[in-house]
Amino acid sequence: MIIFHNKSKLSHHIDELKAKGNSIGFVPTMGALHNGHLSLVKKGLSQNDIVVVSIFVNPTQFDNKEDLEKYPRTLDADTALLKTVCDKKIIVYAPTIKDIYQDAIESQKFTFNGLEHEMEGAFRDGHFDGVGTIVKRLFEIVQPNAAYFGEKDFQQLQIIKKLVELHKIPVKIIGCAIHRAKDGLAMSSRNTRLTKEQRDVAPFIYKTLKTAKAKFGTKSAKYVTEWVEKQFKKEPLLDLEYFIIADKTTLKPVKRKSTKKIYRAFIAVYAGDIRLIDNIALN
Ligand code: PAF
Repeated sequence: MIIFHNKSKLSHHIDELKAKGNSIGFVPTMGALHNGHLSLVKKGLSQNDIVVVSIFVNPTQFDNKEDLEKYPRTLDADTALLKTVCDKKIIVYAPTIKDIYQDAIESQKFTFNGLEHEMEGAFRDGHFDGVGTIVKRLFEIVQPNAAYFGEKDFQQLQIIKKLVELHKIPVKIIGCAIHRAKDGLAMSSRNTRLTKEQRDVAPFIYKTLKTAKAKFGTKSAKYVTEWVEKQFKKEPLLDLEYFIIADKTTLKPVKRKSTKKIYRAFIAVYAGDIRLIDNIALN
């Protein structure tokens, strides 16, 4: 497995591979890889000759300094894990901050038809400018045929689809189902920071989402939202930041339920200072 830390060398290598007719799949990550990431890599390998995995904790998408500092950085373990999937067809790009941002660690400003103002955009100032900046830069460097993103970050996935549409970037965006632990907790790099007590209680998030989905069959969005808020009040180790039922495409919160629309429920929860998100299709 080749590991690049420098964008020019990586681009040159990819140009050579493409000239020989290889298709390139791309899985952008912030590292601390887990089975969820591996499922994206496997999907990429099943559809492309080569998969590039970027490992880069992107400073511009963090609105919280402590979260950025504490974000796990485990490059050796990550590359070892990737080797268990395939040694020959995976390329790792683990750039330095300078390789991506030179001397200005700043985001470009984006609009994504309003998608950026909802949920994560409302609660994490500048988050999607940071995501848009890094993903656009990585696409320019890697020039992939297809890129793979998990649905755990469903809003991010919709925003990246909008990014490539608005900026006419020739890459196919593939959304992949949420990968869950046996007890239902959505896989996340942040899960490694949970204490035993927090980890034990964290599956409550998905359990509550599933019950909310069942209730949404017969009850209003307001009823279901209030019910979820009540459940979290009974769980002292988890602090609900938001539970929102929204239109799957516009991500606007539902006002009046319509049988013609497709809805999804989105949730953000704190376990101590660790922020966990999840979502579920409702209909
Ligand atoms: O989903 C992530 O891990 C990050 O937001 C991404 C897409 C790698 C950009 O830094």
